[in-house]
Amino acid sequence: MGRHPNLLRLAERLLAHIKADTLEMAPDQWTLPVSHYCSDERLARERETLFRRYPIVVAHASELDAPGSCLRHDALGVPLLLVRGEDSRVRCFLNVCRHRGMRLVSEDGACRRKALVCPYHGWTYGLDGTLLHVPHAEAFPELRPETRGLVSVALESRHGLLWVRPTPGPALDLDTFLGPIADDLESFALSTHVVYRRIDTVRRANWKLVIDAFLEAYHIRVLHRDTIYRFFLDARAVSDFVGPHVRSLAARRAAKALVGTPPSAWDLREHFTFTHFVFPNSVFIFHPDYVSHITVFPVDADHVRWVHAMLVPSAVATEDRRPHWDRTLALIEETVFQREDLFAAEGIQTGLRSGANQSVTFGRLESALHHFHATIERSLAPEP
Ligand code: FES
Ligand SMILES: [Fe+2]
Repeated sequence: MGRHPNLLRLAERLLAHIKADTLEMAPDQWTLPVSHYCSDERLARERETLFRRYPIVVAHASELDAPGSCLRHDALGVPLLLVRGEDSRVRCFLNVCRHRGMRLVSEDGACRRKALVCPYHGWTYGLDGTLLHVPHAEAFPELRPETRGLVSVALESRHGLLWVRPTPGPALDLDTFLGPIADDLESFALSTHVVYRRIDTVRRANWKLVIDAFLEAYHIRVLHRDTIYRFFLDARAVSDFVGPHVRSLAARRAAKALVGTPPSAWDLREHFTFTHFVFPNSVFIFHPDYVSHITVFPVDADHVRWVHAMLVPSAVATEDRRPHWDRTLALIEETVFQREDLFAAEGIQTGLRSGANQSVTFGRLESALHHFHATIERSLAPEP
């Protein structure tokens, strides 16, 4: 992995705190109304804005590994179809036939097609979305095939990830959207990874509670006491706010030995753990030898769709490493994420619904959550 100055600066700041035995804290605590996690009206606005107008990662490029690979994606509430064309380019279409609207591809997970044939009457589209064939075409005397190609959705492939914006409009401007966080993603070389496993499940919690869970290290000592706390120092973490995004770094116990050493002695993955949040719904956790890419999608105000892609380096022969990756996945996904982080998110959702609290209190160690919720607030505000 690269050692971009953005990453090294954060490590330096964290080591300075370890040396001085201090914690990075925001100036003040703050609160958020409980309704932000429970209101249907608010969720509708979040969906309309955050999940329709922002670039959202829908897959890793390696999941569409050859011309003709197709993958449907419905979590945004819009039926999307990703297709790798003969020219190797990935395109995104609405997964909707232009005759009477049937879904073109229904398989879960990646599948392969030579052409996209509608299962209803057989209208056939090329991998580039062009309408190629209509059975009994004489039945449609007014049809102009050139106007009945599949409806395109803006897609960009960047950092090994496929980003879409499901609302029609101009091409995605990822450079402006990502800003300096693009350098971070590039230095983690995500494009040289493959998806070892993708977990896709629904839990009973507002989607923002899941993002909250990954924006602070304050909970590690207690919630993860029997699992990952043994690797980390208590509440030792620092964050940068990069536009709407967050770059954060937690100190692993091994980092203690680095105080007073030059940066050349630091292994950014062994001594620290970076967690990058890309607004509005992507979290990347850079573990020592693999990456957890988490995306969350609202189902309703009380339910979230959790999608965890475990990304492993493609250079490592996957077959030999299978027992290792399976053990790793069991610890991180089944135990840490499902039984601890998502268990907590569900416990909070029930608690918030109970009426016990009118607001949620965040302390000075939870400043990245403040940034996240303030960014949402700004995004939802009507444009001047
Ligand atoms: S709905 Fe697709 S061919 Fe008729
Ligand atoms: Fe956690």
